[in-house]
Amino acid sequence: MSNDDRPVLDPTTDHVVPNPGVEEHIERFTDVDKGAGNRAYAAILAMLGAVPVLVILNLIVYFAIRRHTTINIEFAGVKFLHASAQNFLLGLTAGLGVLLIGLAVVQWARVLMDDHEIVEERHSAASDEETRAIAIEKFQAGVAESNVKRRGLILGALGGAVGTVALPAVVTLADMGPWPTKAMRKETIEKTLFAAAPEKEVLLVNDETWRPIKATDLEIGQLVNAEPSNLHGWVDDEGHHHHEDALEGVEGHQAKAKAAIVIVRMDPNDIKIPESRKDWHVSGILAYSKICTHVGCPISLWERQTHHLLCPCHQSTFDLGNSGVVVFGPAARSLPQLPITVNDEGYLVARSDFTVPVGPSYFERDSRNDYKDGDQ
Ligand code: FES
Repeated sequence: MSNDDRPVLDPTTDHVVPNPGVEEHIERFTDVDKGAGNRAYAAILAMLGAVPVLVILNLIVYFAIRRHTTINIEFAGVKFLHASAQNFLLGLTAGLGVLLIGLAVVQWARVLMDDHEIVEERHSAASDEETRAIAIEKFQAGVAESNVKRRGLILGALGGAVGTVALPAVVTLADMGPWPTKAMRKETIEKTLFAAAPEKEVLLVNDETWRPIKATDLEIGQLVNAEPSNLHGWVDDEGHHHHEDALEGVEGHQAKAKAAIVIVRMDPNDIKIPESRKDWHVSGILAYSKICTHVGCPISLWERQTHHLLCPCHQSTFDLGNSGVVVFGPAARSLPQLPITVNDEGYLVARSDFTVPVGPSYFERDSRNDYKDGDQ
């Protein structure tokens, strides 16, 4: 068939798709039955009212249930649940509270707010002043029609319920540790296991073998990762493990995070030893914190020729031949140096704790005593 043989169609009458229009409106049960509306209203209030109760239960669980208590649910030899009772109940009460708020809001919108279809003709996406004014007017009309004002109690209950669920989040902040007052900081983040010295002998031990390190064991250019002997104990030449004051579990991990050190040996003639630190080293053997002062990565990439220690995280570079000053990278503070000496048998021991806090900065940290290039 050529183009000329095709029938001519009238676009207004031929093959016109009928406009389906708006479907017939179906009344909701709450529209036709006033009692059902009131029952739905009561149910929504009950859901929101249960939220503060769940919050109180949540707080009771937090304070009353011991952290190590477990919950076991077993049936016919099959284990369904084995979990921390506190975590399980905290999750259950908090989750139920949030769920009830969600259900109440959805139910409110579905069965109580005004329900009528609106047909709106398409128009240009750009809106002029007049359209905006109309939109605001319609929005306000929508607010009025949604019965928010008439059912004002729901709005109040919703505000109260949402407000109370924030409470457990605030209370559980207590798990982040004690309030960091100055006195508390001095006993926690600003103190390491080396603080036991010199009243008690704290040996520097290899952090893998736990054997104490003798000054004569180290060669020039060598780096050893070490820790204090009061962390995991120490192992003598016969292989006996002395662990009278060793720490375990979380306490041990936290202590190690602050007390991990690197010990390096350099030729004393090649390095700068300031007057104030002249008795902090043993014949060119120096100990530094292993924790980067930028954001706390453990460091041990050692360039023995340049005496630089490089952090793998963001490339901060510290000069261990110059009291740990930063020579490159984002770290703002020198690497803290640990004052060391030797005991009668020639083993390396701590003279005291670090003189400045180890690790990254924090808001209240006092940086006045940090070593700066050129200090004496
Ligand atoms: S943590 Fe060391 S450079 Fe960022």
